[in-house]
Amino acid sequence: MSTHVAKYRKDYLSPAFTTEHVDLDIILDDHRTKVTAILDVKQLREGEVLHLDGNKSLNLLQILVNGQAHDDYQCSDDSLTISGIGSCQLTIVNEIDPKNNSALEGLYKSGDAFCTQCEAEGFRRITFYQDRPDVLATFTTRIEAPKTGYPFLLSNGNKVDGGELDNDRHWVRWQDPFPKPCYLFALVAGDFDQLADTFTTRSGRQVALEIFVDKGNLYRAHHAMESLKKSMAWDEQRFDLEYDLDIYMVVAVDFFNMGAMENKGLNVFNSKYVLASPDTATDADYMGIESVIGHEYFHNWTGNRVTCRDWFQLSLKEGLTVFRDQEFSSDLNYRSVKRINSVRILRGQQFVEDAGPMAHPIRPEKVIEMNNFYTLTVYEKGAEVIRMIHTLLGEEKFQAGMALYFQRHDGQAVTCDDFTQAMQDASGIDLGLFRRWYSQSGTPQLDVSDRYDAQTKQYHLTIRQMTPVTADQDEKLPLHIPVDIELLTDAGESIALVGCDTQRNGAVLNLRDQEETFIFENVANEPTICLLQQFSAPVKCHYDYSDEQLLRITQFATDTFCRWDALQHLIHKYIRLNVHNQQNGGVFELPESFVDVLRGALLDPDIDPAFNALLFTLPSTIELIQLFDEADIATIDSVRGKLMQYLAEQLEDEMTALIHHASQIDHNDLEAIQIGWRSLKSQLLQFAAFRDEALIANEYRQAQTMTMTLAALTAANQADLPCRDELMRDFEKKWQHDGLVMDKWFNLQATYPGTDALQRVKSLLKHPSFSLSNPNRTRALVGRFCYWNAVAFHAEDGSGYEFLSEILMQLNENNPQLAAGLLTPLIQFARLGKTRQAKIKVILGKLAALPNISGDLYEKVDKALSQINS
Ligand code: TRP
Ligand code: ZN
Repeated sequence: MSTHVAKYRKDYLSPAFTTEHVDLDIILDDHRTKVTAILDVKQLREGEVLHLDGNKSLNLLQILVNGQAHDDYQCSDDSLTISGIGSCQLTIVNEIDPKNNSALEGLYKSGDAFCTQCEAEGFRRITFYQDRPDVLATFTTRIEAPKTGYPFLLSNGNKVDGGELDNDRHWVRWQDPFPKPCYLFALVAGDFDQLADTFTTRSGRQVALEIFVDKGNLYRAHHAMESLKKSMAWDEQRFDLEYDLDIYMVVAVDFFNMGAMENKGLNVFNSKYVLASPDTATDADYMGIESVIGHEYFHNWTGNRVTCRDWFQLSLKEGLTVFRDQEFSSDLNYRSVKRINSVRILRGQQFVEDAGPMAHPIRPEKVIEMNNFYTLTVYEKGAEVIRMIHTLLGEEKFQAGMALYFQRHDGQAVTCDDFTQAMQDASGIDLGLFRRWYSQSGTPQLDVSDRYDAQTKQYHLTIRQMTPVTADQDEKLPLHIPVDIELLTDAGESIALVGCDTQRNGAVLNLRDQEETFIFENVANEPTICLLQQFSAPVKCHYDYSDEQLLRITQFATDTFCRWDALQHLIHKYIRLNVHNQQNGGVFELPESFVDVLRGALLDPDIDPAFNALLFTLPSTIELIQLFDEADIATIDSVRGKLMQYLAEQLEDEMTALIHHASQIDHNDLEAIQIGWRSLKSQLLQFAAFRDEALIANEYRQAQTMTMTLAALTAANQADLPCRDELMRDFEKKWQHDGLVMDKWFNLQATYPGTDALQRVKSLLKHPSFSLSNPNRTRALVGRFCYWNAVAFHAEDGSGYEFLSEILMQLNENNPQLAAGLLTPLIQFARLGKTRQAKIKVILGKLAALPNISGDLYEKVDKALSQINS
């Protein structure tokens, strides 16, 4: 019965017409904005009609062909088909209603300002157009609006004209010389504070940089501006890429469905990724801003100058641009910390996506609603695939590949195959088998075994690969997997590998077959193997380690990722052990040797605070659920709490000493070492909360920065301390006027560990600072509860699921993209057991029966129902 139809990658057909130039005239009005589009249409294939995309929210007023009325057309809810034309000038006039556009796609109002969001398919909500990324046109845009309320009228490219009109009105004209697909179009009109600066490119051109924020927020825009200048300089240095227009604008808006958007010359940002001051933003917020500003800037080349042929190729720009922003953050800050954090996201969330109903390759085969494919798979796994190419080629050849890619494809809309072909041709390295990473979904699993021959001094390493079947694909083939390894002696020294690169520790093995054995000569004694240095491939890896070996790796591996990872193995092991104990009436136990290694880390005179902060960040309950076939969530959560408490007691002296030390070192600036100490202290406070309430309350009151305020508040919340409610009230009173800061408060409310968490969340829906029409607020409270409060959301009576479904029914029509995003924790049910799955199935059935279910929700609900029924 559904009207939602899927599109398939294999059905790609190049367009019969293209549009070479668009002349837009937009007269802004809250409810009746008038859009006139004059299109220079060119016919590419004879005998076909012109198909334009549209939307039921468009009110068509007039169609002219070469200036003459034309009535040979058909207009439906979502398309306009024009017959009897060839190459021509096509004029379309229509009206739209931005104020009633709550989907935040197309032209809408964010507060008092007009703004647009066109990716992926939002331009069709502004006017009828060939809304597909392989139609590239130059744009001129005339904007007209009242001067009062809208002193700034912005669009892509350069401002070329403007003037005053009667009745307090004015207009401007923008011209973008670079042909672009319409998803990169943007328009913003409003009254802002403007932060201006300049950047001189390597070749000596001056670029005007302008950041627009809500009035009164100028002092919070400086970090974004610094980040932008760093991005521009870094892309010149590392990738040899220079900016190409004379102006680069960034506008911060409060109502936004995602992080930010790379529109040519006019980025639109979620204000969360622009605004920061030490009293309102944490160190993590500062890092997030730097990385998102970088990400959108890097899109100017990887996305805009070279764009996607069709949306199935999304990872062409997103995987590559995430890889680039990760490298940017790594070069500027702390590479191994960045790497570990990326891996945590990948394993904690992308691997779960692979195991659920939404499993898809980084280049999907089948899509109903494109908005549903801005996924961790396309973005994060996509970046891992680029990173593997980088590992296989090395920096120099990788950069040669990038250069060839731009030389071949600048100004074009291309495919993932075009990218790998450029990498292969420039490097001479065969990527034929490697391309399977683009078409095969799922998380490969490596099974590793070894044998040491004391006689011949040979070490045999056997690696087997297997990718489990996923919801979307039941046949899996072997992949080309780079496995970066190091061998350690019992004393923890790195063993030089005969025949391998002597400049580094260990070697990258190329696994291509289902099973391969690698033989290492001249290995004096039985070694300990460190697998996947730097997490060289997005795979799960199994090797039967002894505790002793894992402790050795934690202490001595050259690679910090491997050191961290070995500790994760141990934590997982002890969580499993104690879940078993608790289920069988046993007591909590933890080996001395494990506690001693952690103690040693805290006592190290050369302690690396940022890395130790990661060692002392326990996996979340939601991550731990993935260790079990059928998760006993309450027990897992309780064991996790006991582990924290136990370590807090055993390591009390060492932790207390470091907390004091950190307080002395903290000068509240953004130097990496300072961030590291704040981060370690924040983690240690989470432990301290279990034994010293006064310390936490005091830290809250003494805090000089939002980083430390929030660390103390989080600790009080997690341990549900008696002072918790009072501190929360204090924070609320101070920040209730500031939505972005209140999001942090909503986050804490959402993860409250008490049994009445759901009741509290429900009553907060009526909090004056809360609004379901604001995606940031909604994700901070509802999203956070459903995703991160595992115990309450997955309550066995189904109350959490019922709550989410009520929210989704409200959002289904208002903001389908947001609704579909919030659905995710409900459809990742693989580990939840039969009782919960039965409850989820009922809820999914109710959603599926919604009379006006959006394509966004329909696609995910439908897939979830198929998986739960099979
Ligand atoms: N292209 C954007 C980015 O990765 C993300 C994006 C896609 C987006 N669709 C969106 C942002 C819709 C906001 C709304 O940077
Ligand atoms: Zn992006």
